[in-house]
Amino acid sequence: MKSLEKIDKNNIPQHIAIIMDGNGRWAKKQGQERLYGHSIGVESVRESLNACISMGVKYLTLYTFSTENWNRPKEEVDGIMNLLVQTISNELELLKENEIGLLVIGDEEGLPDSCREELQEAKDVLSGYNKLYIVLALNYSARWEIKQAIKNISEKVKAGSIDSNAITDELVSSELCTKNIPDPELIIRTSGEHRISNFLLWQLAYSELYFTEVLWPDFKSEDLYLAVLDYQSRERRFGQTSEQII
Ligand code: FPP
Repeated sequence: MKSLEKIDKNNIPQHIAIIMDGNGRWAKKQGQERLYGHSIGVESVRESLNACISMGVKYLTLYTFSTENWNRPKEEVDGIMNLLVQTISNELELLKENEIGLLVIGDEEGLPDSCREELQEAKDVLSGYNKLYIVLALNYSARWEIKQAIKNISEKVKAGSIDSNAITDELVSSELCTKNIPDPELIIRTSGEHRISNFLLWQLAYSELYFTEVLWPDFKSEDLYLAVLDYQSRERRFGQTSEQII
């Protein structure tokens, strides 16, 4: 029986978020430049999108470029930005055919103009599609996002439009980039690193974490199915006891 057939269709995570890691190490193993790893990583993005469509996942968030990634060599940063623009442009028709919507989380203002323009065009073309949303985390970091939320909320308190006692989980969530997106039930990190690296720190409060040794360019649909099967084998208690959730 194939992994996809073993998956319980009544217990599919609505939102899967992935820290795509290992492109550089994969390229090095092939005797290639790091950018080659990123370009082959685009194929794994395609595989993951197809797997999400097959399972009926609603949101796939990809940690594509963090606020810390600007510290990489300029050549690599420019290469990733160009790859992003090229990929969105090349895949736009296919995304449209599959009725996939596009969302961006992160500080879009800080992205190069070419990138912002391509993203805007893609968002316009794909607006209204909702079979699956691909959520690109770009120029994103959770601490940046949480700081923005704190600033916005404190300004509202100062202006008297909300009382500090009215600061609930829901209010904080509504000030984050992910305000209309459910929290991810499953977060995956590839390449054997067991870290979260400033990703969705508020939203992951009850997420199941899945770490795999597979380097991102080697990550195929089958690997995503295995992650979901692992997720389905877990008991999600949300602070309660096993007996309470039966
Ligand atoms: C992490 O691997 C990967 C990135 C920072 C970039 C990811 C970008 C892509 C896969 C390309 C474009 C994606 C989309 C969504 C169109 P790493 O470089 O940190 O690898 P290493 O840890 O082995 O050095």
